[in-house]
Amino acid sequence: MSSRHDFIRALRREPVTRRPVWLMRQAGRYLPEYRALRQHAGGFLDLLKNPDNACEVTLQPVRRFDLDAAILFADILTIPDAMGLGLEFVAGRGPLFRRSISRLTEARALPVPDPQTDLAYVLDTVKIVTQELDGRLPLIGFAGGPWTLAAYMLEGGGGAREFPRARAVVNAQPELVEVLAAKLVPATIAYLLAQARAGAEALMLFESWAGLLAPEGFRRHVLAPLEEIVTVVKADPAAQDKPMILFAKGAGQHAAALGGLGAEALGVDWTVSLADVRRATNNHVALQGNLDPAALLAPEDALRAAVRAVIADFGPGPGHVFNLGHGVTPDVDPERVGALVDEVHGAPV
Ligand code: CP3
Repeated sequence: MSSRHDFIRALRREPVTRRPVWLMRQAGRYLPEYRALRQHAGGFLDLLKNPDNACEVTLQPVRRFDLDAAILFADILTIPDAMGLGLEFVAGRGPLFRRSISRLTEARALPVPDPQTDLAYVLDTVKIVTQELDGRLPLIGFAGGPWTLAAYMLEGGGGAREFPRARAVVNAQPELVEVLAAKLVPATIAYLLAQARAGAEALMLFESWAGLLAPEGFRRHVLAPLEEIVTVVKADPAAQDKPMILFAKGAGQHAAALGGLGAEALGVDWTVSLADVRRATNNHVALQGNLDPAALLAPEDALRAAVRAVIADFGPGPGHVFNLGHGVTPDVDPERVGALVDEVHGAPV
């Protein structure tokens, strides 16, 4: 079934009326209206777990800018939180879990959350947002990749320190990562399918810490679980016509393997050339990306030139969704985002 949304059409590598664009972290701290609502609500988790707040934050960027998709306001760590790890956000430290996983017995004892009950707040947000959007824009649902979730669960927190504990486990006790994946894969499949049933029109997997792994670990802990998720999700009538996007940050050298997993599109970070990824994937998948997020900190004419360079790098033909190579940072002037969107839409398709 063909879509009238350029975003969905581009993911299927169909012709578009203009090049679609949305930005990772398009909702967030660079928007004054986000900061105001977060302060009013109490904190990030109070936005996340309250569907009316999460809906409002989802819609803030699409009201302000002519974006081609909305992304559900949630977090990849909702699944480990629903498994009982106790998610917290400490200002300046990023995400933390009250409990981390260090033993096989702990990993084996983790429950696989039922999205209908344990993640009902996310599904309620998807329903409310879908109602509010009323078909004007497609909504992207998402989940974290199993390796990235496992890295946070093993580390207890992470980010700034590059996950030394999680990487030690990969080398010393890889079966612990696999036991976590055996929980996270079915949890993620159920979560994505529930989002699709609730109204999400595209599904994205964020494997943000894929770049930490050596090639063998990448095959075992990134490619294998992602392939299982994509295969099962795609086989379900609820998601058959919902394009999937795989974003494995720092994994440019694995583009051919990622492109063969069955998803319609790959998200690409800014460290690789879209033309190279297109060649590596034989032009069989759509690409989403890949402007350096720091380009949003440059003067407007330099930003516009950088946008044109990404578009030129992709080259002719359908199958490009413009995005950053990672998320919008809090120090960005919202006016730059407006200029970016304007430049993308003004470019020939
Ligand atoms: O606009 C959107 O992109 C949708 C919402 C979204 C958030 N997190 C909101 C958020 C999405 C898609 C995510 C995914 C996510 N969360 C990822 C994958 C993408 C990536 O960035 O690589 C990861 C690794 C996380 C885990 C996470 N959540 C981290 C590391 C942090 C802290 C980092 C930071 O920017 O402070 C968060 C918090 C978070 N998630 C914020 C937002 C808007 C900032 C919260 C705040 O302080 O208000």
